[in-house]
Amino acid sequence: MSDSVPVITIDGPSGSGKGTVTGRVAERLGWWVLDSGALYRLVGYAVEQAKIGFNDQNKISEIASKLNVKFDHGVIRLGGIDVTTAIRTETAGNNASKVAAMPGVRQALLDWQRDYARLPGLVADGRDMGTTVFPDAGLKIFLTASAAERAQRRYKQLKEKGLPANLAALTAEIEERDARDRNRAVSPLVPAADAIEIDSTALTIENVVERVLQQAHAVYATPYRPLSGRQN
Ligand code: C5P
Repeated sequence: MSDSVPVITIDGPSGSGKGTVTGRVAERLGWWVLDSGALYRLVGYAVEQAKIGFNDQNKISEIASKLNVKFDHGVIRLGGIDVTTAIRTETAGNNASKVAAMPGVRQALLDWQRDYARLPGLVADGRDMGTTVFPDAGLKIFLTASAAERAQRRYKQLKEKGLPANLAALTAEIEERDARDRNRAVSPLVPAADAIEIDSTALTIENVVERVLQQAHAVYATPYRPLSGRQN
């Protein structure tokens, strides 16, 4: 990463609202977005397609280093096939979390992720953006929410997309995925020492976006006007 590129990292557990907050902050600033979870989801998906199982770390790391992916105006193609929706299922999320525990996979994706840091700036969404991928980022956010609230949000999201969803199963899956992400040896899900923690359980997305934009203004002097009707 070039030191002259401003970077905001937004890390946190699944369902904390990172993806939406990242997209909206980037839109307001006119900056680039890195959805690092999508890269792990793509690796998990490619492994499933290759039918090699989730134990062969060497082969899986090789798959990660050779992924043929194209991001095109919101459409994600893997080997030419549109996988935009297929990588968003809970199974794909779980498979992503399995391959994400493998050091070889994380290493294979590292430079690729750092390459996203381009002017005028980058908002990077993930688990280890502030700790490992962009340790020098000027603004690091760690976004949390209770597991019950996150399961509810995921349930709503899936339903809106017309995908199957079961609240009890989602809660269990979220807790299982959190435990795997927090307890893995390499790049575990922990806030960076200099991260600002925001608990979004009782906040709206707009509240969180405003807080991040205020911080970005303080650090990078990005343009910032509070939403109309609000006095700060
Ligand atoms: O953010 P998302 O739910 O799409 O991520 C899917 C999985 O990918 C996470 O549960 C996590 O295991 C893994 N991941 C990661 N590091 C990142 C982004 C995602 O380990 N920076």
